[in-house]
Amino acid sequence: MSTAAEAPTTAVPDSPESFSERLRAATWGDHQAAEDHGFARALLDGTLSLAGYTGMVAQHYFAYVALEETGRLLADDPVAGGFHRPELERVPALVRDLEHLLGADWRERISPSPATRTYAARIEQMADHPEGFVAHHYTRYMGDVSGGQFIRRVAARAYGFTDGAGTAFYVFDGLGSLPRFRAGYRERLDSLDLDETAAARLVAETRLAYQLNTEVFADLGRTYVPGAA
Ligand code: HEM
Repeated sequence: MSTAAEAPTTAVPDSPESFSERLRAATWGDHQAAEDHGFARALLDGTLSLAGYTGMVAQHYFAYVALEETGRLLADDPVAGGFHRPELERVPALVRDLEHLLGADWRERISPSPATRTYAARIEQMADHPEGFVAHHYTRYMGDVSGGQFIRRVAARAYGFTDGAGTAFYVFDGLGSLPRFRAGYRERLDSLDLDETAAARLVAETRLAYQLNTEVFADLGRTYVPGAA
């Protein structure tokens, strides 16, 4: 018996994909590659050593110094400036985490890996390519307010952190509701005035940003998770 539910539906043209949907769809495979890396898996299942976690926080420090210094240079840029939010800045939180994890002399005890140097240099080059900078901004901060919130809980449990010590990086007190922030971020992506060349460049730079992050995991994996790279 035919029911309304079974009746063939008239083809309704799909609503045009928004830019944020396009960006996510075009880069999700790269996200999965980063998430599936052996180092990330060890982090997620709570088997990564505290030394490995500390090593990751140290590498984040160098990447975010580059990201946030470049972001400040572009704070008034018509494309990148709309994403500038001082409440997003992670370097102060990373410093707190490193003080907790390594002690007062943390700065003398850390150095960027080869992959982090490459990543930070690429971010700095984006000072002359604002849409490319948006790609790096998106890749890190949207990740931190999404999967990062899961990592925060796993790390607190795995390493017995209390009172947020060691995971300040994942705490975005100044942003209010994170789901609302993510929705607002997508709206900003959707309201960018980009021609096709610039839009394609932003997508391509996001794919590169994921790959550079995966390389940082690979460096960390070689040191802390033998067989992960
Ligand atoms: C380490 C393991 C990771 C886990 C478990 C994880 C998990 C997630 C989850 C659950 C989401 C939300 C998806 C949604 O809104 O439906 C997300 C989004 C995102 N993640 Fe990750 N992620 C990980 C690693 C990474 C890495 C390494 C990066 C980049 C450096 C990253 C960047 C992003 C970005 C940019 C988004 C937002 C995508 C969008 O909705 O436009 N993630 N992640």
